[in-house]
Amino acid sequence: MEIKSVGVIGAGQMGNGIAHVFALAGYDVLLNDISEEALGRSKQMIGQNMDRQVSREKISAEERDAALARISTGSDLAVVGKVDLIIESATENESIKRKIFASLAEHLAPHTLLTSNTSSISITRLAAGTDRPERFMGFHFMNPVPVMQLVELIRGIATDNATYEILAEVVQRLGKSAASSEDYPAFIVNRILVPMINEAVYALYEGVGSVSSIDLSMKLGANHPMGPLELADFIGLDTCLAIMNVLHEGLADTKYRPCPLLVKYVEAGWHGRKTKRGFYDYRGETPVPTR
Ligand code: CAA
Repeated sequence: MEIKSVGVIGAGQMGNGIAHVFALAGYDVLLNDISEEALGRSKQMIGQNMDRQVSREKISAEERDAALARISTGSDLAVVGKVDLIIESATENESIKRKIFASLAEHLAPHTLLTSNTSSISITRLAAGTDRPERFMGFHFMNPVPVMQLVELIRGIATDNATYEILAEVVQRLGKSAASSEDYPAFIVNRILVPMINEAVYALYEGVGSVSSIDLSMKLGANHPMGPLELADFIGLDTCLAIMNVLHEGLADTKYRPCPLLVKYVEAGWHGRKTKRGFYDYRGETPVPTR
């Protein structure tokens, strides 16, 4: 089976990056969201990010224009259900994801492959709620999608080999590398990365260091491109907390308990860059640490 058309459900920061890379690789992309405003923002963001790639000579202006023309947007699940491959990339919340797959069920073409860009939730459990667990997989992209080379491929207990092979081929066509992960909470990248971020928040909470000194330490002391608190703001503090909760509940080990300070930031609605406040305040010219 050759994948030609792709439906991306959820036009947030991951959804727009995923639509971007699929369109550039020549796939027809249908970007779906319940919010017209999110769809408009997302198309604008994709245009800006492609312009940046044109200005850095990563792609030509013709490639950008052709890719943008391959992306259409809409909110109708009946339309998106007919594509070859669906990538659900809604908020990291299991009940929202389950509802999306349930609403899609009646509209799906028999051949359509279902995937979720979940960063932590059980693929086996999500697949079990659909009519095609053998053609359901975890398809996890990293942020920013146009830049990051890795895609995690996660098989649920029922996923068949044909589905895995098709998605591995898609990753190759995107020019990215696939890592195969077993279906355990948060898979590989987030199993390691997000507890490190949570530990950085504990270091802040316990007064070991300030926001600036923690980030500087990991940038200059461990050669990370971003400090852990800057990265947490980039990923979204709500997403970081959701992943810690999945690890804590799924592995039943207290070493994964979310830091109370992370919970407090999320409760305040300070979710990082997307809400303009997190461990840094982004409302001015340059980010200012909030502690
Ligand atoms: N679209 C297209 N290109 C982009 C882009 C985007 N959204 N964002 C950055 N770029 C490109 C820039 O054009 C630039 O390209 P060149 O190298 O050709 O010049 C390059 O990326 C570097 O960007 P900048 O010079 O603007 O900034 P930088 O050097 O500070 O790098 C960064 C930015 C790539 C984001 C870097 O800081 C980085 O790698 N940070 C860590 C990112 C990371 O760890 N991501 C994983 C998060 S975990 C995750 O995603 C999993 C999950 O489920 C939570």
